[in-house]
Amino acid sequence: MKLKSLGVIGSGAIAAPMLEAVAGNVPAQLDRLSLLTLPAVADGARALLDKVGPRIAREHEVVTDADAFLSRRHDLVVECAGHAAVKAYGTRVLEVGTDLLVVSIGSLTDDALRESLRAAAEKSGARMILCSGAIGGIDLLSAARLAGIERITYTSRKPPKAWKGTPAALLVDLDTVTSETVFYEGTARAAARDYPQNANSAATIAIASVGLDHVTVRLVADPAAPGNVHEFKLSSACADMDVRIVGKPSPDNPKTSMSTAYTVAREILNRLSPIAI
Ligand SMILES: NC(=O)c1ccc[n+]([C@@H]2O[C@H](COP(=O)([O-])OP(=O)(O)OC[C@H]3O[C@@H](n4cnc5c(N)ncnc54)[C@H](O)[C@@H]3O)[C@@H](O)[C@H]2O)c1
Repeated sequence: MKLKSLGVIGSGAIAAPMLEAVAGNVPAQLDRLSLLTLPAVADGARALLDKVGPRIAREHEVVTDADAFLSRRHDLVVECAGHAAVKAYGTRVLEVGTDLLVVSIGSLTDDALRESLRAAAEKSGARMILCSGAIGGIDLLSAARLAGIERITYTSRKPPKAWKGTPAALLVDLDTVTSETVFYEGTARAAARDYPQNANSAATIAIASVGLDHVTVRLVADPAAPGNVHEFKLSSACADMDVRIVGKPSPDNPKTSMSTAYTVAREILNRLSPIAI
């Protein structure tokens, strides 16, 4: 079924460039675009939709009431708002048969929430799609699981100051460290618990491959890191992978890699095109 009605949760650093990219590439107007956001930022969201809304859909609206948003019965709802939003709305979206594209993958390290989302999707026939976000190569990684994965390690490498405000500050002197320092090594599940603000990428890799308890995560403070660097190494029966991605920070939220917005836009545009890639 072609996408006619799109719901977006969030109007921040991912949603804005994502909607710009969709507006610039959408092959034909949708029927409706609804944007659910918090009242405090609703004016900014309206200004955004004034700019991009007419190019995307015939009817477009900013909504701050979740019940009104959910009553629209969109064909696809895209979450780009944070872990709390997945928890607050995810199950309700799937229950009514609407597909849900999730970017806050770290929320899925909560087993009870993941199971509730899975059960709701199974019951209604909707699908929950996990966006690749800041991580590339998820297609081959996930396919390699079918052949058999022998080993997988994920490393998150950032400049020391980017680790400020996390438990890393208790383990490393982030103001004086002069060489690369691995301050954490553990499972993806433990890393998501201890460093929740870093959980999305590790959780994406783990859920796509061998699960949260079997991926080793290393966190590194590196004065030479050119930005937020994601590295993963995989040995499998069908391919070995050695992937390094240097994320360019979003100007509106330096914790978010700019590429995330475009991976969301790609998922949406693939639903509108006769050829999906
Ligand atoms: N998978 C990935 O690789 C990846 C990468 C970056 C960010 N993320 C996730 O995406 C989320 C959004 O990132 P961002 O940079 O756009 O954040 P942001 O803070 O710039 O924007 C968040 C937006 O969501 C809205 N929002 C928050 N809670 C809401 C709620 N309960 N209901 C409605 N709207 C709500 C805010 O008003 C804001 O507009 C992050 O919290 C993170 O979990 C995932």
